[in-house]
Amino acid sequence: KNNEMAVIRRGEPLSIFEIDSHTPSKISIKQLKLSLAQLEKGGYDTFMLKEIFEQPTTLRDCLRGRITGDCSRVTLSGVELNRDRFLQAERITLVACGTSWHAALIGKRLIQDFCQIPVEVEYASEFRYGNPVLNDRDIVIAISQSGETADTLAAIQLAKDKGAFVYGVCNVVGASIPRATDSGTYIHVGPEIGVASTKAFTGQVTVLTLLALAVGQLRGVIDSSTVQSVATALNAMPGTIEETLKCNDAVQKLSMFFTYAHNFIYLGRGYNYPTALEGALKLKEISYIHAEGYPAAEMKHGPIALIDQEMPSVIIAPSDSLYDKIISNVQQVKSRGGAVVAIVSKGNTAMKDIANFCIEIPDVPECLTPLVASIPLQLLAYYIAVNKGKNVDQPRNLAKSVTVE
Ligand code: AGP
Repeated sequence: KNNEMAVIRRGEPLSIFEIDSHTPSKISIKQLKLSLAQLEKGGYDTFMLKEIFEQPTTLRDCLRGRITGDCSRVTLSGVELNRDRFLQAERITLVACGTSWHAALIGKRLIQDFCQIPVEVEYASEFRYGNPVLNDRDIVIAISQSGETADTLAAIQLAKDKGAFVYGVCNVVGASIPRATDSGTYIHVGPEIGVASTKAFTGQVTVLTLLALAVGQLRGVIDSSTVQSVATALNAMPGTIEETLKCNDAVQKLSMFFTYAHNFIYLGRGYNYPTALEGALKLKEISYIHAEGYPAAEMKHGPIALIDQEMPSVIIAPSDSLYDKIISNVQQVKSRGGAVVAIVSKGNTAMKDIANFCIEIPDVPECLTPLVASIPLQLLAYYIAVNKGKNVDQPRNLAKSVTVE
């Protein structure tokens, strides 16, 4: 805890005491369920590639015990133990930073679609200084891989002071954020060593999907056929991600064409606007190429001016309710000489005639498309960075846990 010090001496018991008063503190020791193999590269060149390929396993761990065998119910103990809070909630605010903030944007759509509760998403750093209006009918959900991000911790403290119920979605067991929140759900994806978050992002999106389904059921606002179809597809997600990872060789090949690009634009709509933001962030972080993510329909309001032969676009275009709309963005980029990498659903032959490169992803319900579409984007950023000889696990200027403001 803050203001405590631990002293570890070989052969002697651990002692923890308060720094100022030297009073010994009560020690509660929990053994972490961690194997050494989880901290090694397991035959991969980098932790990041290992973590990308681990996602079928990490999602299996994340889902374990949370969906009933017949896929008719989703149970999260954090929701069950706080039924009244979730039943009485008038608004949910999601706070996070970086990749976790992108997961929060997807969470907003999921909670709105399945729970019919108004949802807001805030950068934790803005929320903490934004004088938020909150009361005891508010739920604040803090999302963090490390559980140590300073801005997110400060946002939690502020929300608690204002009477909100604070729920954590974290990875690192026993970290500061799970300790500071009233309740929560771990994503259980194991230690993430690569600075660029990959498996934690898909774990966060998976938990937010489970949470939205569980709360929707609790409030009686989601029909059983929706639960059944989404939970069935979510249950099958480890296998679906395994299938998606088969795009690895194709992505590696196409990465060669873009290694020397100076700028990229990522476009997506609906559930995949945050996926576009996340794809752009991955590229920026590890390859140092400037990349912007945009909601595709916003392109005509400004960014289209940037498009020329030097500015490739990555367009996320699964066969969902917005596919017909996004196809016109592909045409706009092409007609201005820009190269297009399109992420499309399996069996989409039409896009092959328009885009320069097509990467296929398995067909899943619309709300789950970010989980599969993010895989080729992680690989694209990875291979471009490797082609450029960058240190993908420890990119310059970045730290895994941002414990200062
Ligand atoms: C992700 O690739 C980044 N390294 C970064 O944006 C990260 O997501 C952010 O700092 C938040 O960290 P947290 O999830 O541990 O709170």
